[in-house]
Amino acid sequence: MTIIGNLKMNKTNTQVKDYIMKLLPRYEMGRHEVVLCLPYTALSTAKFLLDGSDIKLGAQNLCDDEVGKNTGEISGEMLHDCGVEYVIVGHSERRAKYKDNAKAINKKIKIALKNRLKVIFCVGESLAEKNLLKTFETLKAQIEDGLKGLYENELENIVIAYEPIWAIGSGKTPLAKEIDASIKSIRKVIENDFSLKAAQKIEVLYGGSVDNKNCSSIAKLGQVNGLLIGGACLDAINFSQLIKDVKV
Ligand code: PGA
Repeated sequence: MTIIGNLKMNKTNTQVKDYIMKLLPRYEMGRHEVVLCLPYTALSTAKFLLDGSDIKLGAQNLCDDEVGKNTGEISGEMLHDCGVEYVIVGHSERRAKYKDNAKAINKKIKIALKNRLKVIFCVGESLAEKNLLKTFETLKAQIEDGLKGLYENELENIVIAYEPIWAIGSGKTPLAKEIDASIKSIRKVIENDFSLKAAQKIEVLYGGSVDNKNCSSIAKLGQVNGLLIGGACLDAINFSQLIKDVKV
């Protein structure tokens, strides 16, 4: 299983140090692929502290340009150079607040791959889209826009995170059968646009109000290859327990 903690804009460098010092003694290596997506300011500290552990370092965003006049931005090359292995692209908070549109997301994915970063590509429907029964249609459009122009072998470095927008931070999750059906629809798009083999192989995670209570049942669903966790990863002790509770 892949278990990703997205700390969002939480924790200073000092707090991340404390967080990792609490997490490491409670963490059992080799059971899961665990990724910590940290604020940029804590990446170098975390890289140093995670040395010797198999926890991977992730970032939460990258610039849609490779270099140059982009004041305040961080490039894919800079992330790779800091020891980052994963980067989140297309999170709904960035789509909504920071104008990460389809074109920018597609560019970010390509730049991340070029810089040897694995992409955690987030897709998901809004509540309005769900109510209008447009979930599958929304997912198809997001996936096709995001993966436009990619070669099939590049999908090996892409993990898709299915995150219904209405489930993020709300304490609400879709029904088990809805999660499976949405992820099946995602695999169908990959099958049509790439191949059946690619659709079977691509990792698809679920994210949105995953917590210590529901993590193991969601992780057991047939279509789910892992979890993307926000709120429930903020406390290191809680998160280490969640990682233990998810069976391989
Ligand atoms: P949540 O966030 O677990 O707090 O719902 C998930 C996410 O935004 O990736």
